[in-house]
Amino acid sequence: MPDTLIEAQALVRTYRQGLTSIDAVAAATFRLHSGDRVALVGRSGSGKSTLLHLMAGLEVPTRGTIAWPALGSAETLLPAKIALVFQAPSLLDSLTVSENVALPLLLGKRPGDIDQAVRDALATFGLADLAGKLPEELSGGQMQRVAMARAIAGRPRVVLADEPTGQLDQPTARALLDALLAHLTGTDTALVVATHDLAVAARMETVWQMARGRLTECATTMEDT
Ligand SMILES: Nc1ncnc2c1ncn2[C@@H]1O[C@H](COP(=O)(O)OP(=O)(O)OP(=O)(O)O)[C@@H](O)[C@H]1O
Ligand SMILES: [Mg+2]
Repeated sequence: MPDTLIEAQALVRTYRQGLTSIDAVAAATFRLHSGDRVALVGRSGSGKSTLLHLMAGLEVPTRGTIAWPALGSAETLLPAKIALVFQAPSLLDSLTVSENVALPLLLGKRPGDIDQAVRDALATFGLADLAGKLPEELSGGQMQRVAMARAIAGRPRVVLADEPTGQLDQPTARALLDALLAHLTGTDTALVVATHDLAVAARMETVWQMARGRLTECATTMEDT
């Protein structure tokens, strides 16, 4: 029986917008198990990024519950147990590519050879030649791949990737996904990818559909609720 990594019940995240408020996530109930491969799809503004931030413990729910049974409390998750690849560029400008990838390993006090882990992660995404470059010297797509390398370098239990192929052409997007899935093969790391790209969604085992904050479909994860 795979570990339950994240479980949420009737999860709601409300934001104030001027005089009104919006339920960015409205009553989401789901379980994420080790080894799951999930595509999170839905229109722009449907709540995908907000849901990923809740899953990472970055956002506090307005109502409902979320727990990480096999991982611990919300404040212990990032960056070692759960890696979050943000939708917006998130590399630190003053650090090289290698230093950016090493940062969560240093913060997470990962044991072992950090330099080797960084080299492996960069090689996974074909980025070895960029190791010494600064973010300003990279294209948007290269930055996205470096952020993905940073996410997997510490071998987290969960990878949450928010539109990781948003700036990539189709062949490059396919190559990134090939590399990511090959890297995860044989591991029990769970993967959730928010995406507008149907070709990306088709590569996952499960599709979670969001519409106006509601998670309307979560096929395999609901079987034992
Ligand atoms: N910090 C915030 N303050 C106020 N409203 C917010 C905030 N973050 C998100 N929202 C609102 O919550 C809703 C969901 O936003 P979210 O970013 O989760 O959607 P999304 O599905 O990731 O969209 P996209 O596909 O464009 O990335 C939107 O209406 C957005 O305007
Ligand atoms: Mg988003």
